[in-house]
Amino acid sequence: MSTGTSFLRKMSLHKFRKSISSSKLDAETVVSQQEEPLTPPPETQNVLLLHAARQPYEYTENYPVPKLENDHEVLVRAQAIGLNPIDWKAPDFNFAIPELPYISGRELSGEIVQLSPTISPRLKLKDRVLAISTDYRDLRKAAYQEYVVAFDYNTVRLPPNLTHEEGSTLGVAFVAAALALGVCAGLDFSSVLDGPDLFSLIRNISPSQIADDIRQECLDSIRPHERAQPGDWLAVWGGSSTSANLTIQLAKLAGLKTVAVVDKAKHGLRLANHHAIRTDLLVDSHDPARAVEIIRANLKGKLRFGIDVRGRESATSLLQALSPDNLGSVTDKDAPPSPPSTPKDSTLLSAHLIGLTGLPKQAAPEGTLFHTVPIKLFHEVPEVGEALVGWLERLLAAGLVQPPEIIDVEDGLRSINKGLNRMRKGEISGGKLVVRV
Ligand SMILES: NC(=O)c1ccc[n+]([C@@H]2O[C@H](COP(=O)([O-])OP(=O)(O)OC[C@H]3O[C@@H](n4cnc5c(N)ncnc54)[C@H](OP(=O)(O)O)[C@@H]3O)[C@@H](O)[C@H]2O)c1
Repeated sequence: MSTGTSFLRKMSLHKFRKSISSSKLDAETVVSQQEEPLTPPPETQNVLLLHAARQPYEYTENYPVPKLENDHEVLVRAQAIGLNPIDWKAPDFNFAIPELPYISGRELSGEIVQLSPTISPRLKLKDRVLAISTDYRDLRKAAYQEYVVAFDYNTVRLPPNLTHEEGSTLGVAFVAAALALGVCAGLDFSSVLDGPDLFSLIRNISPSQIADDIRQECLDSIRPHERAQPGDWLAVWGGSSTSANLTIQLAKLAGLKTVAVVDKAKHGLRLANHHAIRTDLLVDSHDPARAVEIIRANLKGKLRFGIDVRGRESATSLLQALSPDNLGSVTDKDAPPSPPSTPKDSTLLSAHLIGLTGLPKQAAPEGTLFHTVPIKLFHEVPEVGEALVGWLERLLAAGLVQPPEIIDVEDGLRSINKGLNRMRKGEISGGKLVVRV
């Protein structure tokens, strides 16, 4: 069965690529949609290359500017790059590096300098945009270069009041937050500036469009009657991170009640005073057992949704704070770890633990389901990408979503190694490090 659907998916990708190969673009066929001429992009550029794991990125001149390959792509001249933990973790721990030399970098803002004549009408030349590069296997889309290719459905126009630096802070975190809440927890965003109902959206496309390795998470991990609803509680462990910031903002907009677990000595006042990310309950992370006790005592068995952004250890703590409907109270007897992980009575409500960085080692206890974020939906399913970028444009234009705080701005591609070292040392906390290009 899975081989069949995998084949179908490959065929549909093949058809997609075939349909665009006839219109394969080169510099001559890409035309301006505006009267005013624009200097064409150069043939070569400066980039950062990774030649081997556990090495710094190497500044390299005269590297080819990437070419547009289909009608859904734009070329963006980078102005600001947002640094992400994966940018240093991947080389340090040697994962998510599909080829060498490799170009890294997952989000940037800049100006559109080239596009197909048949691109989405949403975008035009010279637009100031944020490009979100979850597609880490396509080096043309990596952010650590002066010119970056992006799918139109992964490109967000910035409102005039946002700087490029601000724009470069929130793309990956927004996508992770929206998919965690909308797909894994089933939260419907349609009441917030006509946002997407991702639960329904992904059930209305062909399953063959969804990669084998995320299909179960997308289609079978939460039942319709237990989707998160306005008024439900969500706990976010690791509340100081950029991903937590966007998760809390979106959850609050959609009507969830929120708990954040953070180092209150570092972040307490800032989070308590910040309109967009202030949570209903703020819990100190210093003593995890005590944090669990505080959540359980305050929420009295009503916490069914948890998102951990720190790692396996804190995800294990967060699991202790969750209460599936079939346990129901704060008596805190440990549920036996065993499959099946859904409650035997189908009317009971499961608890849902979503791990951005890791999940507990143990199997999910009865009545609890573990989730990972199907991030590749964003670049592999155009309907999902387009729904998310269109919504983010509306949220930013209306000022309903705010960029995370910029901790510092470094200058130039050459400064990225220095910036990543600052991140390795834990100096970037509670916000984002940005590099001006
Ligand atoms: N699965 C997915 O699709 C997905 C998507 C996005 C992100 N992620 C993952 O989610 C996690 C958070 O990402 P993010 O971009 O939101 O992170 P972030 O904004 O960089 O913040 C992470 C937090 O971790 C702490 N920290 C900073 N440097 C550290 C270091 N060197 N070692 C340990 N902790 C450090 C800081 O908190 P304190 O100062 O309060 O300790 C900081 O606020 C990362 O592991 C990232 O890879 C996963």
